[in-house]
This record gives sequence, C-alpha cells and structure tokens, in this order.
Amino acid sequence: MRVFVPADSTAVSIGADEVAAALRSAGLDVVRTGSRGLYWLEPLVEVEAEGRRIGYGPIQANDTATLVEALQAESRDDPRCVGDVDELLASQGQQRLTLGRTGRVVPGDWDDYVAHGGTAGLRAALDMEPQAIVDEVKASGLRGRGGAGFPTGIKWQTVHDQEVTPKYIVCNADEGDSGTFADRMLMEGDPFCLLEGMTIAALAVGAERGYIYLRSEYPDAHRMLEKALEAARANGMLGESVMGSGQAFDIEVRLGAGAYICGEETSLLESLEGKRGVIRFKPPLPAIQGFLNRPTVVNNVITLGSVPAILADGGAAYHAVGVEKSRGTLTVQLCGNVARPGLYEVPFGVTLGHLINELGGGCASGRPARAVQVGGPLGAYLPPDLFDTPLDYEAFAEVNSMIGHGGVVVFDDTVDMVAQARFALEFCAIESCGKCTPCRVGSVRGQEVIDRITADDDRDRNIALLRELCETMIQGSLCAHGGMAPFPVLSALNHFPDDFEPRTAAA
Ligand code: NAI
Repeated sequence: MRVFVPADSTAVSIGADEVAAALRSAGLDVVRTGSRGLYWLEPLVEVEAEGRRIGYGPIQANDTATLVEALQAESRDDPRCVGDVDELLASQGQQRLTLGRTGRVVPGDWDDYVAHGGTAGLRAALDMEPQAIVDEVKASGLRGRGGAGFPTGIKWQTVHDQEVTPKYIVCNADEGDSGTFADRMLMEGDPFCLLEGMTIAALAVGAERGYIYLRSEYPDAHRMLEKALEAARANGMLGESVMGSGQAFDIEVRLGAGAYICGEETSLLESLEGKRGVIRFKPPLPAIQGFLNRPTVVNNVITLGSVPAILADGGAAYHAVGVEKSRGTLTVQLCGNVARPGLYEVPFGVTLGHLINELGGGCASGRPARAVQVGGPLGAYLPPDLFDTPLDYEAFAEVNSMIGHGGVVVFDDTVDMVAQARFALEFCAIESCGKCTPCRVGSVRGQEVIDRITADDDRDRNIALLRELCETMIQGSLCAHGGMAPFPVLSALNHFPDDFEPRTAAA
C-alpha cells in the first residue's frame, strides 16, 4: 500500500518524519511529498485509492498502528479521515493554479514532475518568440506576488527591450514577512515549477543566468533546490541548450544572512553582489540597471511559479480567474489566532471575512476576531467592519491597506493594539538598513512618542506628533521598509483609538 507523508518543514516540525518511519516499519510503501497547506491537519497522511488520495490527519507516530488498521480496512469512518483531499481543497473554493502539484508530487523527481504536467509551459514558450511570451504574461494580468503587485509582463517588457547584455533573472526567495510561507512551500514541494518559471522568464527577456536569493532560514528548501537544479541540468532543462533549443540558461542559489531588508529588491541585489544589504536609489530600476548594473528581472517565487501554468494554459485562462485588475489566484497564508491555519490558493475577489471565518474557522481561542494584519509586519491592521473587503489590490488600497505577499495574521479580542503599533516601529528600527533618516531615526523616535502617549504625557500633542512622524516616514523614506512601517501604526490609531488611552485609565 502506497501512502504519502509530507516532508515539508512545517509537517516535519510536528512529527511527520516519525510518522513516516513508523508507517515504513509497519511495511507500508511511504512516499515523501510536500504539503497541501492544510496545516491544521498535519501530519496529514494520504493513501492512494482508485486514483484518488484519501487523507487522514493529524497523525502522530503513536497513532500509526490504528491508522494502519484503518487503511487496511479502507475505513472512511475513522474520525481522522478527511476524505478525498482534492475534493476538500475544491470544497474550500481553492483553485490551485500555482500550487497544484505541491503536496501531490515527489519533489525533485523529474519524471514525476513531467507526469503531472511539468514542463508544458516551457515547451509552449520554446515554440514562441520572446515578445510573444511577454505578451502572454501581460495578457494573464499577473502582478508581482512579492508584495508590490506590479504587472509582471510590463516588468519583463522593460528588460526585454534593453539592448545591454548580459541580462539576469533574479528570484527573490527571501520570504521575510511574518506569517508567510508560500514561497517555502513551493520550493520544498514543487521546486521544478520555480526553475521552469525562471527559465521561461529567461527565454522571454534573453537572459543566460539566473539566481535564487534564498533566506538561510530555509535549509530544507535549499537542499531541495540544489537537488532539483541537478536533476533539471541532467534532463536538459538547464544548461548550454535549454531543452535542445540552443539557448543557454542556468541557475545558482545564493544564501542570504538573515536581514529582512534584503527582501527589498535593491538591497537584495547589493547582497547578491557580495556587498552589505543597503538599499539603492531608484531610479535606475533593476529592470534597466540591476544585478551588476545589467538589466535584471527581479520577481518573487510565487510570481515566477505562476508562469508555467500561464504559458501552458494561455494568459486568457489565467485572466479568466479573479476580479477587476487582480487576476488569477492569491496564495493566502492564513495564520495567527485561527482555528484552521494554512495555505489557501483562492481566486482574487473572496473577502477577508470569508477567509478568516469560513475557511479559517474563526479564532483558535474561540474568542471573536478583533483585528487582522494583512501584508506582513508592516501591513495595516483591519477591524471586523472591514472584513467585507475583497482580496483585490485596489480594494485594499482604498482602505489604506495592502495585500502584500498574502500573509493574513488573525488576532482575537485580547490583542493590545498599541503594543502592536509599537512593535511595528521596533521591528522597523531593528531591520532598517540605516541609509535614510526617516526610517533609521523615525522608527526609534516613534517608539518613544508611543510610550509618552500610553504614559499620558501630553497625549493629544503626542498623538498629533505621531501622525506627523508617520507622514514624514511615508513621504521621505527611500524604500518601502520605512515607507510602510507607519501603516500598522496609523491603522491602529484610526481603527482602535481606545487602545491609545493612557494605560492606567484603560486598565
Ligand atoms: P515598488 O512599487 O517600488 O516596485 C515594484 C516592482 O516593480 C519593483 O520590482 C520595481 O523595480 C518594478 N518596477 C516599477 N516600475 C517599473 C517599470 N516601469 N518597469 C519595470 N519594472 C518596474 O515596490 P517595492 O519597493 O519593490 O516592493 C514593496 C513591496 O514589497 C511592498 O508592497 C511589500 O508588500 C513587499 N514586501 C514583501 C516582503 C516579502 O517577504 N515578500 C517583505 C517586505 C516587503
């Protein structure tokens, strides 16, 4: 009997290796996969039955004897049985356009990748002119999933149009936002998908070399990427002649050293060049003068990982999913105080409330949700009366928020919003590269002003000062790090003013 147990680092952190070992010693044929993203069910064991995958979870190593009995009896009545896992994902409204293979395939196994539709996008791209590939990505409406939501096709067009060579493809895998793990899940669970997306980008813009800038905190992803790179070279996807096309392209992994700011594209490029991770002025844009001052596509893992499906099925098919100017799917990472945390790949347009309450099952504590932070540690806090906001870049901008990389962190009614606001500035100060004054100094002064507010020291004047400081940081910071740190602060002030009452009075 063939059973599938994730080797994804989240599943492993809660006992998946022990479960796999116990099932192996019970004589089962255990296959290690990535995760489906149903983290509240991990370790989730799947068994193949008539072409379907039936899931059981969560399973602990000391539960495996009863699990083996249930599997042998083909019991669906077992309380741990969640039925057909693909049906479960579909019933949640998930559309796995980017993470369709993650959790299903054996990561790093080339034949399994091809058997599950891998390389279809690349093969289609190899039959197209570079401009036609760029046009297909433009037609899809894909926007950068790293956070800024810039149209990917337009970025590629800029690089395509440069006459300077060599050109580079740089994948930003420095996933630093709190509560995000979509990049890691794809790299650990379907690494060829990222390599294929980067290769298609290379064909589109005429690059011969790519780099994956990976955070060193992801050792499992690193091992998996190295394994996949070797297999991709052995099978002709990378090297002197991509799939026999005559075009050369190869990829190298470079490790970061734990600086959040190196997720900002220009600091990343500095770090990639072996220098300290300090931001560069823009312009010039990296698309024109990026890595080693050459035209460079810098895209996030999920952006590049979405490209193979776009080329395989056509830009129009991708564009048919989603709403308004937000097309395709978003890999939402739902976490914090939520009953069913995990990765949900859903079409743009579903509301925040649907994610938190219907998919996430509300707060894990059983208490009401009071706030949700979307878009990482520098994203705005939204109160329940904005939970009807649809996942849509422009709709989020209208409520002074941003979707960012799709991290959604839920807080219940015990959250202290003034502490959260202060934390944003503390985080900004610790992670600031120090180049510009609004970010470097403003983040420290902001903490002091908040302390004066909570100590009831000239409260009204200090609230006005805090707002003014936030405005200065937004307008004057050189990059999004200092420019966004005020969002959690201002959203806390605007939506949760009572929390800024003096501490003694509030108590
Ligand atoms: P940005 O708006 O300056 O730029 C967006 C992208 O478009 C950049 O790659 C830029 O070079 C490119 N671009 C702009 N105009 C272009 C043109 N005409 N042609 C070609 N390319 C062009 O935003 P930035 O500062 O790169 O990113 C900020 C975002 O990063 C934030 O919104 C935040 O959500 C996100 N972020 C993500 C993190 C993560 O862990 N994924 C961590 C921290 C922030």
